[in-house]
Amino acid sequence: MKSNDAYKCIVQLMNDLNSIHPEGNLNIVSRMFFDKIVPSLYSTPDFEDELRLSLFDYTRYRTLELLIYEIKRRNLKGETAEVGVYQGLYSRYINSLLPQKKLYLFDTFNGFSSAQIHKEVNNNFLKKSFLDIVPKFKNTSVEKVISTMPYPNSCIIKKGYFPDTAKDIKETFCLVSIDVDLYESTKAALVFFAPRLEKHGYLIVHDYNQHELFGVKAAVNEFLDENPSFCCVPITDQCGSIIITF
Ligand SMILES: C[S@@+](CC[C@H](N)C(=O)[O-])C[C@H]1O[C@@H](n2cnc3c(N)ncnc32)[C@H](O)[C@@H]1O
Repeated sequence: MKSNDAYKCIVQLMNDLNSIHPEGNLNIVSRMFFDKIVPSLYSTPDFEDELRLSLFDYTRYRTLELLIYEIKRRNLKGETAEVGVYQGLYSRYINSLLPQKKLYLFDTFNGFSSAQIHKEVNNNFLKKSFLDIVPKFKNTSVEKVISTMPYPNSCIIKKGYFPDTAKDIKETFCLVSIDVDLYESTKAALVFFAPRLEKHGYLIVHDYNQHELFGVKAAVNEFLDENPSFCCVPITDQCGSIIITF
């Protein structure tokens, strides 16, 4: 089965489950579904290990799903975006659940630059152990990511360094995932998207309470101090994401 066919099949099954359990998928049936069935359905040769690992982050994916219920319930305007796409795992999920919204995909699609990493190390924003996994982020491409999106026509690729790649954006946003691992990229994404966020929309910042990436927390805390009208809710997914809204 092609991965985007698998995704459409997953979404259909999720919708069926939701009609049985309208309060959301926080129940044993869907937990079994996500932990056991999705990984076996989903096979993308190059990306498979990543997918299997990430789909086990139940809290991260269920939280996204419930945030999207709220966006739909309030009928929020605005588009969606992910800054830090890598192989598109999380983006795919946004795309599958909000197919009618545009999804801007910001990444170098070639991993981190050594200049970015040196700066973080010099500022003590990275634990040395993170350096071992930096090279793996080169294992992606625009073509691979787009080929696994369930609704590729809604996706707009922004390849290169954020925020340079955001200069022409005019829209507002209801949901933005910020998953860039670094202080400077996180701060730039918060500063760019905060004034473009719809009321009751969400900025989801991955790794806020992650134990190797101190720069993310520094950037978020700085942003919250500078913008007291925004509030936040930390969540207990594997990398300690934080949700920002107003
Ligand atoms: C951890 S990965 C993203 C993982 C993805 N969100 C997921 O859940 O599978 C971090 C990505 O951020 C990208 N990145 C970091 N800073 C960036 C910047 N300033 N501009 C563009 N991409 C950036 C890197 O290239 C890398 O692919």
